[in-house]
Amino acid sequence: MSQAAGTDHGRGTARAGSAAPAHPAVPRAPRGGRLRRGVRFAWTIATLVVVQAIVCGVAVSPVIALWAPLLAWAARSPVAGIAAVSFAAIPSYALFAITLMFASAVATRATGWRTRPDAKLRLADLDWPLLDWVRYMVATHIVRLFAGTLFRGTPIWSAYLRLNGARVGRRVYVNSLAVSDHNLLEFGDDVVIGGDVHLSGHTVEGGYVKTGRVCLRNHVTIGLGSVIGIGATIGPDVQIGALSLVPKHVTLDTRGVYVGVPARRLADRSEPREGDPGAADPN
Ligand SMILES: CC(C)(COP(=O)(O)OP(=O)(O)OC[C@H]1O[C@@H](n2cnc3c(N)ncnc32)[C@H](O)[C@@H]1OP(=O)(O)O)[C@@H](O)C(=O)NCCC(=O)NCCS
Repeated sequence: MSQAAGTDHGRGTARAGSAAPAHPAVPRAPRGGRLRRGVRFAWTIATLVVVQAIVCGVAVSPVIALWAPLLAWAARSPVAGIAAVSFAAIPSYALFAITLMFASAVATRATGWRTRPDAKLRLADLDWPLLDWVRYMVATHIVRLFAGTLFRGTPIWSAYLRLNGARVGRRVYVNSLAVSDHNLLEFGDDVVIGGDVHLSGHTVEGGYVKTGRVCLRNHVTIGLGSVIGIGATIGPDVQIGALSLVPKHVTLDTRGVYVGVPARRLADRSEPREGDPGAADPN
């Protein structure tokens, strides 16, 4: 997919051809009858509620087991009980969050809720691949809400991403909660994703959910607040600057630093830059 990097005063980018199929000029009616779509939607909500109730039940079980004797003790000896409850509050929340990550990932594996790769799904159709994606996103979002704030940027969060479908190498730190469609993500070794980076395997355009894999090879750092498009392949040995945009279906495989919107390669630091001591006099 890689295309030769065009250079622009020492900076370059690589853009793969991404001819998007044209949308029909006249929007067509949703596929399937209204009743069928209603039944599919209702089934989706029902299964979501049931599965998430089971997942949450599993996640709170160890906390209940811990707190039942603690509260009984607090009733007998209020001062010691309050001290014990104070010390147990945050560790027991962490215990809930870790169990939630594990139970949710096991549930999405067992149910097969996933984002289909390289798909173009019309929102109005409410077809099963779209509804599977919705359920995967909801399950991921619940974990993000209750566990992500505590564990993002730690090896525990990387372990959750792996368990929830991502291919994650060693020493990978993901400090952003806007990373989704885990089963379409592949991170090599020594990857760092900064805070507020938006990186996912889907985008919504013109009423369609479009999906694609995102691959960060070894030694890739994504700067704070950057947006990485679907189908992007980055690295190895690439740094993306803060607040940059890597458009969809782009390959940046020449090692170096890329910045801006869209991201372009900074001049190689081994090359003398204008103003550097020893740089060629332009005159
Ligand atoms: C991209 C980055 C690594 C470049 O650092 P550097 O190699 O020391 O480069 P400099 O600061 O000397 O900047 C070089 C040029 O790039 C520009 N530049 C640097 N960062 C930029 C960015 N994020 N967007 C646009 N331009 C940028 C500078 O303005 C400068 O332009 P000039 O040559 O026209 O003056 C750094 O600026 C950056 O964005 N780091 C983000 C780190 C991060 O978020 N890590 C995530 C974990 S916390």
